[in-house]
Amino acid sequence: MEMALKLNATSFRPPRRPDFARLTPAAATFKSSEFIMDSKDVHKLVHHAQVTHSLPPEKIEIFKSIEPWAEKNLLVLLNPVEKCWQPQDFLPDPASDGFYDQVKELRERAKELPDDYFVVLIGDMITEEALPTYQTMLNTFDGVRDETGASPTSWAIWNRGWTSEENRHGDLLNKYLYLCGRVDMRHIEKTIQYLIGSGMDIKTENNPYLGFIYTSFQERATFISHGNTARLAKGHGDLKLAQICGKIASDEKRHETAYTKIVEKLFEIDPDGTVLAFADMMRKKVSMPAHFMYDGCDDKLFDHFSAVAQRLDVYTAKDYADILEHLVLKWKVGNLIGLSGEGREAQDYVCRLAPKIRRVEERARERAKQAPQISFSWIYDRKVQL
Ligand SMILES: [Fe+2]
Ligand SMILES: [Fe+2]
Repeated sequence: MEMALKLNATSFRPPRRPDFARLTPAAATFKSSEFIMDSKDVHKLVHHAQVTHSLPPEKIEIFKSIEPWAEKNLLVLLNPVEKCWQPQDFLPDPASDGFYDQVKELRERAKELPDDYFVVLIGDMITEEALPTYQTMLNTFDGVRDETGASPTSWAIWNRGWTSEENRHGDLLNKYLYLCGRVDMRHIEKTIQYLIGSGMDIKTENNPYLGFIYTSFQERATFISHGNTARLAKGHGDLKLAQICGKIASDEKRHETAYTKIVEKLFEIDPDGTVLAFADMMRKKVSMPAHFMYDGCDDKLFDHFSAVAQRLDVYTAKDYADILEHLVLKWKVGNLIGLSGEGREAQDYVCRLAPKIRRVEERARERAKQAPQISFSWIYDRKVQL
């Protein structure tokens, strides 16, 4: 359990220039100041030097040069709106005579779901609802950002299309949770507002190499986690909720395909730079997008949510290791040849990392057996085993 916390939470480490920056003298660093959430809650969020623009200009050019590739290979992975599912397809229709009955049925089914399941589903919903942060993040990446908000480049079209598809995830889960009557919507809404206000600190340095490795990892993580909430909903007899989580998971899978394809292409063009970026991202650890989660009460809310997700096997440190291993195989990192000395070191590091994480995970699982119960504002302060 502690492992999950360690992997997921922001690490407050002293300023350090990452490996990738060593190769890129243009990289600039600045120290962010502590920032204040509001007059009462001083949330010390970012404590390390933030590296910016670590990718040198000649490498940024790569992204311009592969735009036709992106058009052909990436944009086809966006579904046309007319063919997309919409949240309304899975929710009671407020214009129909059967609306009240449908809501009643939904609430009957939700009665069978335990509190710990709700904690995880709510955390997942809140994570999805911080979408403005993720679109912002995509648009921090040099060479692929949407320069105008309506830029016609393939990268910008992808960013907007991806966002528009993702937007349905938070909408659907939010409306489901609102209707089910089991959760404290006001506390959940506050958490979303705090989270969007806090942003995220994932150390991608405006660098699309790091950025697309991060998104590859994250889309797979959300695919796994929504897939598991679907499986558990089915186990609790709520087939409609299982369908909802499953639909979302299938979007995440398609998005994973897109981002892993970009990185695959980068490995083809620039194996050395890409393997260095991969190792750098893994050394920094892939923070979860909602790592700054806060509800106004619990200073360790994200850790507590992660611990429950870990205990329910929705998203675990083992999943983290599995994703890493999956990406190493998918990108055939072990087979790369002609690397520099540093590149070979990075290759070795990422190829050997997954078993190490698994060993730490097993020890953390042993320790987690005496975990306490914690109350969550999201479910009216009812207590849940971590
Ligand atoms: Fe999503
Ligand atoms: Fe996603």
